[in-house]
Amino acid sequence: MGKPVYQKVRGMHDILPDASHRWEAVEAAYREVVGLYNYREIRNPLLEDTGLFQRSIGDDTDIVGKEMYSFTDAGGDELTLRPEGTAGVVRAYVEHSIAAVEAVTKCYYIGPMFRRERPQKGRYRQFHQAGAEIFGAPPPVVDAEQVVMLAEFLDRIGLGGAVVLFNHLGSGETRRRYRQLLSEHYGARRSELCTDCVRRLETNPLRLLDCKVESCAKMKGDAPKMREILDGADLSLLERFRSLLHAAGVEAREDDRLVRGLDYYTGIVYEVEVEAERGSVVVAGGGRYDDLVAGLGGSETPAAGFAIGLERVLDCLPESPPASVDLFVLVPSPEAEATAASLLLEARRAGLRADLDPRAGSMKAQMKRANKLGSAYVLILGQKELEAGTVAVKDMREGGQVDVDVAAAVKHVLERLGR
Ligand code: HAM
Repeated sequence: MGKPVYQKVRGMHDILPDASHRWEAVEAAYREVVGLYNYREIRNPLLEDTGLFQRSIGDDTDIVGKEMYSFTDAGGDELTLRPEGTAGVVRAYVEHSIAAVEAVTKCYYIGPMFRRERPQKGRYRQFHQAGAEIFGAPPPVVDAEQVVMLAEFLDRIGLGGAVVLFNHLGSGETRRRYRQLLSEHYGARRSELCTDCVRRLETNPLRLLDCKVESCAKMKGDAPKMREILDGADLSLLERFRSLLHAAGVEAREDDRLVRGLDYYTGIVYEVEVEAERGSVVVAGGGRYDDLVAGLGGSETPAAGFAIGLERVLDCLPESPPASVDLFVLVPSPEAEATAASLLLEARRAGLRADLDPRAGSMKAQMKRANKLGSAYVLILGQKELEAGTVAVKDMREGGQVDVDVAAAVKHVLERLGR
């Protein structure tokens, strides 16, 4: 083993070949579930103009203020590696005038996001999200449907029993009032606030509820609750949302002070928790952002979405071994090479995962490799078999070995595997 000259960037991870099957399975389940809800994939660039994120996520958020990977490129453009998916999706929605051709647009994405956070379990600097967004639909039916879709996905991959914590950030005047109330509550104890929060008093009082500094976090306990000032229309939306989730069997609890870490939210917001060995883990978050499309130059368009953290989901799932090989061909001599190659081609065309040992070592070494790969069947092309036009088929699970015509060998294995 040599010594590596470079190592991966802190907080970023390689997904190695012996682990990627877990990712593929989770991603396939996601595609399948969102497909059932008629969502179609959108693939955006990883790089966007820095201004896009400042404007949509908000200058005063931790993401924009502290966590973005931003740089000026050789042409002088200010670019940022996307810290989340929504802003880019909305940018594309407006740029391509999608509203003009699709009154209601549903799209999903899976891909890496970048935030320069302090790395720890469940918090990485490059992580992956599976998200979904809907444009052109008012609350609360689609909001509830998105949460149910999310829960269906979690259930399908073995994380049933997710709990949804939700809140309503109020619309227009109510939100302004709530900001005012928060400002007064925290402002009364200004001297105990961290410097960021002193600024937030003026710029963005909702963010006060998000501060992790102990002295500020303590003030959250008796902070005013949104529910106390929500108007009748918002309260009834919230009630309909709750009952739609209830009808679908999704456990949902109101969390009065849930504000989320991004500024674009306008109405119903939520986070989704699952129980893991090490306690409950927030695996997803989302909500409504009815002002963002217009904020980025489009027309007034109601919109809502969520994103799931795939590392967090995978951290909650048990390890599983990669798929084993169905058929392995032992090639004892160069004379058997051509027959082996055509058997392998036939097997692969028939849908079998098939392999050989490319190092062409001893029979014993090749058999060891077949065992290591967990091959269900091994085809042995010895001298005797070659001359007779047959191949020895060894059943590695049940034991036993039979000679079969070369032409019938793959069919034989397929039958034994029940395919
Ligand atoms: P978010 O809550 O910032 O929302 O991220 C969504 C999920 O991404 C989190 O619940 C978490 O599972 C995962 N996540 C976030 N940061 C990290 C990290 N540093 N390491 C590992 N996982 C992480 C959004 O990003 C919104 N764009 C969601 C949305 C879509 N809202 C509307 N549409």
